[in-house]
Amino acid sequence: MAEAHATTPDGVPVGGRTAEGVEQEVRPAPGRAEIPLLDAVRSHERASAFIVACDEFLDAQGFTEHGFRHANLVGHIAFNVLTHLGRDPRIAELAAVAGYLHDIGNVISRADHGQTGALIAYDVLKELDVAPADMALIMSAIGNHEEQYGQSVSDVSAAVILADKSDVHRSRVRKGASIVMDIHDRVNYAVTQSFLRVDAEHHTLTLELEIDTAISQVLEYFEIFLERMIMCRRAAQTLGCQFRITVNGVPVL
Ligand SMILES: [Fe+2]
Ligand SMILES: [Fe+2]
Repeated sequence: MAEAHATTPDGVPVGGRTAEGVEQEVRPAPGRAEIPLLDAVRSHERASAFIVACDEFLDAQGFTEHGFRHANLVGHIAFNVLTHLGRDPRIAELAAVAGYLHDIGNVISRADHGQTGALIAYDVLKELDVAPADMALIMSAIGNHEEQYGQSVSDVSAAVILADKSDVHRSRVRKGASIVMDIHDRVNYAVTQSFLRVDAEHHTLTLELEIDTAISQVLEYFEIFLERMIMCRRAAQTLGCQFRITVNGVPVL
């Protein structure tokens, strides 16, 4: 793993998946503690049931993994990005919750799941007595995470976009998927490691990918993820940073 980051030694990898597909262990940021609101949301029975159902429904439609693994990973990466950039811990906590809940709207339909998800989140957050201003930041981040119409409207929203779009990895490909027929499955399967690195000192956010080019060419990655990458660039700008990508240690953006 250490060699994979050899070309970008500065900054901290804030989240991603290892070659085995597990969430990467992240060095604790200064001041990082528990995330109580995230714990409360993770214990919310209806929210949990909906995330389980989302994953089932998306499986039925042929989409990659969207269950607790994706939810937790996006929540933690969003939290870590803001924490490592020195943002207020409360704001980082809201990003963790928005990241965790961002795909919950898929329980209704894939179409416009950002919009429906924001309203489902409203219900959950109301039950947990979250302050209206905090709800607004979470709801707007969820409602703006899709590349078709999303805009990074706040630091919370920017962190969720970056975290969500960074989660490309072979462990998201379902058993029985055809990597020959489906470009999304193929590209996800070809990504053996993915990390997002924050360099607060140089104001850069770098998505570090290890791609097995025997399975998918780098060009295929950009073919399907160009819109997402443009969205990440804007999100990074919202956070006062530049967005970069390295593939197999080589800077490509
Ligand atoms: Fe989504
Ligand atoms: Fe997502």
